[in-house]
Amino acid sequence: MADFDTIIIGAGPGGYVAAIRAAQLGQKVACVEGRDTLGGTCLNVGCIPSKALLHATHMLHETQENFQKMGLIGTSPKVDWTKMQGYKDDVVQANTKGIEFLFKKNKVTWIRGWATIPAPGQVKVGEETHTAKAIVIATGSEASSLPGVTVDEETVVTSTGALTLGRIPKSMVVIGAGVIGLEMGSVYARLGTAVTVIEYLDAITPGMDAEVAKTFQRILTKQGLAFVLGAAVQSVTKARKGATVSYKVRKTDTEATLDAEIVLVATGRKPFTGGLGLEALGVETGPRGTVKTDAHWQTNIPGLYAIGDCVAGPMLAHKAEDEGMAVAEVLSGKHGHVNYGVIPGVIYTTPEVANVGLTEEQLKAEGRAYKVGRFPFMGNARAKAVFQAEGFVKLIADAATDRILGCHIIGPGAGDLIHEVCVAMEFGAAAQDLALTSHAHPTWSEAVREAALACGDGAIHA
Ligand code: NAI
Repeated sequence: MADFDTIIIGAGPGGYVAAIRAAQLGQKVACVEGRDTLGGTCLNVGCIPSKALLHATHMLHETQENFQKMGLIGTSPKVDWTKMQGYKDDVVQANTKGIEFLFKKNKVTWIRGWATIPAPGQVKVGEETHTAKAIVIATGSEASSLPGVTVDEETVVTSTGALTLGRIPKSMVVIGAGVIGLEMGSVYARLGTAVTVIEYLDAITPGMDAEVAKTFQRILTKQGLAFVLGAAVQSVTKARKGATVSYKVRKTDTEATLDAEIVLVATGRKPFTGGLGLEALGVETGPRGTVKTDAHWQTNIPGLYAIGDCVAGPMLAHKAEDEGMAVAEVLSGKHGHVNYGVIPGVIYTTPEVANVGLTEEQLKAEGRAYKVGRFPFMGNARAKAVFQAEGFVKLIADAATDRILGCHIIGPGAGDLIHEVCVAMEFGAAAQDLALTSHAHPTWSEAVREAALACGDGAIHA
């Protein structure tokens, strides 16, 4: 008899959710984790600590930019970097301890150490080999650097190093205008660092709605971030103090350099599967080393499953969680399912940026007839009251059926507002369904309703 019904490798959002759900469904479950704390990249060195720093620096920005306007007069706060780091660490600890509590509550065994899979149905941790009916690989991802760039996590850092810099740098070059680059770039720009973002493409946040990306860049520029677009970084050379970044301007094919105290490499992530022994097992992999699975997250090896950042799809904690729940259900004889068409994406800057479903660019490429309802936060009373009236909601619906196909928001609370659209899409709603739903006044969510109204007879406040 196997030691466990299911062994999950990795206790990030994919792994720990799979473990808890499988246990709730009556399985005997173990989860292997090599870090000293549970929660994976997200809780330890990703989503959670970055949100703590984004929150703290947003508060600072408010005191500097908006307090006076609201009649709040007084000495502006000074930054105690060590204390801010301590606050961030406390937030991380509270969350990782929370997962430990949930493991105990649900009787999930935490096997501490790094796992290998010597044979199907076996997981080796240290000297001990554990057996299981099913194994789930949920080992996540790691930062992928560029050729010519050596990360030392002190001067040339990934997001991990950027969260724990010894001091607030005077200057920073961020390579890559994706999610990590813009979130961490915002943090340091608000702390007074001169931040320059170098991006290979001609626009920031590739894949995002082009109008949103343009507005987003304009707002971030106003907040002090500088952008060099259409530039491919060639190398980073460490100097006595800081480093020099060499890049090629793609249009003119000319080379240029930029010096900075810190260089943040934010050019994407890759599956973290080295050391598991997948090659020896004959596990099939796809582009960029992603583990290949079927529609039920099973690899080509029977009984071996994979979910989260190490499989295909967006590298998002909530996508991993969804897959974690679904695979646990499949392994418990139920019908786990993930609707990949309705997975929101959020950037936690100020303003927040959020999206779900299809973009206009994608619909044009598909040749599909659609209509767009736009509503600017300038017409939203609550947004004006909090100095965040610059963005907009853009709702996209099918031209013939009015069915919602996507939504793109830049504005206050965008990361929460998007979920009303996610629910609507899950129910196959039309824009009119949102438009006919009462929304409390004054709330930011009224902007979503107004965008839905704009898909029909028109918004009221625009
Ligand atoms: P990303 O894929 O979002 O962006 C990387 C950027 O680097 C791209 O715009 C790319 O064009 C650019 N780039 C690549 N090579 C370059 C070069 N040689 N010179 C200049 N630019 C170059 O990757 P990122 O920001 O590192 O994030 C990694 C993953 O983590 C993503 O999948 C992201 O979704 C996820 N993440 C999600 C968060 C959220 O949901 N809020 C927060 C942080 C990370």
